Amino acid sequence: MQVDESSSFQMNDVESLERKLSADIAAAGDESALETVRVASLGKKGAVSELLKSLGSMSPEERRENGPLFNGLRDRVAMAIAERKAALAREALDARLAFERIDVTLPVRPEPRGTIHPVSQVQDEITAIFADLGFAVAEGPDVEYDDYNFTKLNIPPDHPARQMHDTFYVARQSDGERHVLRTHTSPVQARVMLKQKPPIRVIVPGRAYRRDSDATHTPMFHQLEALVIDEETNLGHLRWVVEQFCSAFFEVDKIELRARPSFFPFTEPSVEWDMRCDRSGGQIKFGTGNDWLELGGSGMVHPRVLEMCGIDPARYQGFAFGFGLDRMAMLKYGAPDLRPFFDSDLRWLRHYGFAALDLPTLDAGLSR
Ligand code: PHE
Repeated sequence: MQVDESSSFQMNDVESLERKLSADIAAAGDESALETVRVASLGKKGAVSELLKSLGSMSPEERRENGPLFNGLRDRVAMAIAERKAALAREALDARLAFERIDVTLPVRPEPRGTIHPVSQVQDEITAIFADLGFAVAEGPDVEYDDYNFTKLNIPPDHPARQMHDTFYVARQSDGERHVLRTHTSPVQARVMLKQKPPIRVIVPGRAYRRDSDATHTPMFHQLEALVIDEETNLGHLRWVVEQFCSAFFEVDKIELRARPSFFPFTEPSVEWDMRCDRSGGQIKFGTGNDWLELGGSGMVHPRVLEMCGIDPARYQGFAFGFGLDRMAMLKYGAPDLRPFFDSDLRWLRHYGFAALDLPTLDAGLSR
């Protein structure tokens, strides 16, 4: 038998190349190292590719012998690279799974449990609407001087209008002043005017107290007061602000308001506002129907009030309104009875409450 020197040399060559490539593939620690091995072996100028190319210059016998050898090498190297690649991917996934492992036996982190009371929600909504119109928020105490609650609002001590108010009186204080639980948010008008020069644009969402209790009245309730004082502020401005507010608050484009002449000692003329609504279908609609929602009273601030609060009525005028806030909350959020608003019943609060982390804003939608 004739020994073919050159082919046995080729054979050794192929074997040692295969050993080397196998070692390189096994040593490749990540995909890019493996890619380097692939280019060095199977790439255009790779060692295996060069061997395959050399077939072209061989004699037919040499080619017959070396062809299967080289092709076999190419196939095994390609296979080894593919296997290594899959193994690397598995290792990466295992590492990630080990790292991202969670212990499913740990207790679940509780959701925030408290909710925002509809009245607080409505106050936040109102504040967002009026902030957009350029109003600031003013505050005053719930236990108020008789003077601010009444006298400075043109209701002197023996004025019959005091009887409209079912006042809770507080025992006379050490300073000799008489205090009441404020019967409306209007005393904050006086407080603001005494402190601030016009132009004035404020709202006062807050609590008020009257001796009154039925399905739509509670001894403590909430009002939304507004006060605007400037040189030319008039009834038209009042109407526009009420309209803008109602359409933003009830989130309807078209609303219809009704103005009724009224009387308050601290406004002249005085107007009460109602808004058209429909409560017939079990669902409330605004701007249509034959029902009217009473919003509350308003009017042009009485010149005597301006004067008593240190503002020159010859130069300044303005309007004020005081709306029933609970009533608006009831209507907007479909609560039939006012009393449970203040019962602190957790089931009611969970049902009617709002998510603690959703702040009402005009651009995100007030009530979502
Ligand atoms: N304070 C009045 C009330 O409680 C409402 C009101 C406010 C009227 C401001 C006119 C101006 O009924």
